[in-house]
Amino acid sequence: MIKHHSNHVQMKKILSFQIVILAIGLQVFSIACTQQEVVQGPGTVTKKVFGKLPDSSVADIYTLINHSGITLKVTNYGGRITSLIVPDKNGKSDDIVLGFDSLSGYLAANPYFGAIVGRYGNRIAKGKFEIDGNKYTLAQNNGVNQLHGGIKGFDKVIWKAEDFKSEKSVGVKLSYLSHDGEEGYPGNLSAVVSYTLTDDNQLIFDYSATSDKATPINLTQHSYFNLAGKGDNKSHDVMISASKYTVVDSTLIPTGELRDVKGTPFDFTVAKPIGKDLVATGGNPIGYDHNYVLDTKGIKDLAVRVVEPLSGRIMEVYTDQPGVQFYTGNFLDGTITGKYGIVYNQHSGFCFETQHFPDSPNQPTFPSTILKPGETYHTTTIYKFSAK
Ligand code: BGC
Repeated sequence: MIKHHSNHVQMKKILSFQIVILAIGLQVFSIACTQQEVVQGPGTVTKKVFGKLPDSSVADIYTLINHSGITLKVTNYGGRITSLIVPDKNGKSDDIVLGFDSLSGYLAANPYFGAIVGRYGNRIAKGKFEIDGNKYTLAQNNGVNQLHGGIKGFDKVIWKAEDFKSEKSVGVKLSYLSHDGEEGYPGNLSAVVSYTLTDDNQLIFDYSATSDKATPINLTQHSYFNLAGKGDNKSHDVMISASKYTVVDSTLIPTGELRDVKGTPFDFTVAKPIGKDLVATGGNPIGYDHNYVLDTKGIKDLAVRVVEPLSGRIMEVYTDQPGVQFYTGNFLDGTITGKYGIVYNQHSGFCFETQHFPDSPNQPTFPSTILKPGETYHTTTIYKFSAK
């Protein structure tokens, strides 16, 4: 009996010794994991959980670091760029995109911060169009019009994500299957968007898609930039290689007219500060919210150049698309507070959304946006960063 008791005590001691060893092991393992995160550096992509959606699906966030000082964060919720940290002319880094540091910010109402926009970026008049005699009615989410793909567009869905790396770049490939009838659009559309951050500071957006029914498509990226990292956008110098823009009615639907920018506040063919003719645009609310008809002939030609004089940061846009929506954050009104506690007032940022012209499905004179079964939609846009 006594012997049995002492055996029991012995066993207990061994067991508690084993538990201690296990606990130490776990501790060491978790320190090692944390350290692995800390030592992530140039040329890496790291994935973490960003948060949970109301339906319990999980959004991840990817951190991409290149070898030239840029860190990009992207979540697979809406393919949103949440942060882009870029050095200025003195090597000081700032976050140059508007957004939030938690998923809840993106789940609450916000004007497409950092998002992939689709199935059709920009407006479709009255949310209606016709293809081959078939009439379609879309979800209307901007007065009577549809804006940026509807109520639950590509900016509000979870994309399947896969990271990738090459010798001189890091990236994330996002895929999404948009079902036939989603937001009123015809056809099952399989979309793939990849973000590649290169060591020469290019952020390349590559969009492709196929569909099993003819559908309009116009994918774009809706990041709001502020190359100073804070303040308003008015002192940014902008050049847009466009001698015409699409004239719009009071609901921002094109009238069909392509008007010369020459002699108007819309002329950015020679660089000028955003603030120079901002009030003269006469918009309500004030500012630029216009589709420029690019004079460029393809991805090799410079479409847009933005220079922020104090930081010396430069952003250049290259695209194979025929247009670009220049939007100066006119509807921002101080009701949203973003990262770093910054309040987003009117003109806090600007967007260059490369695209086909707004309402193309209803405008026979505009280049076509219809993707047919058997065809592949493919477009590329590059944002290039530097400082001097
Ligand atoms: C549109 C604006 C709109 C903004 C945010 C831009 O692309 O042109 O009119 O307010 O997106 O939704």
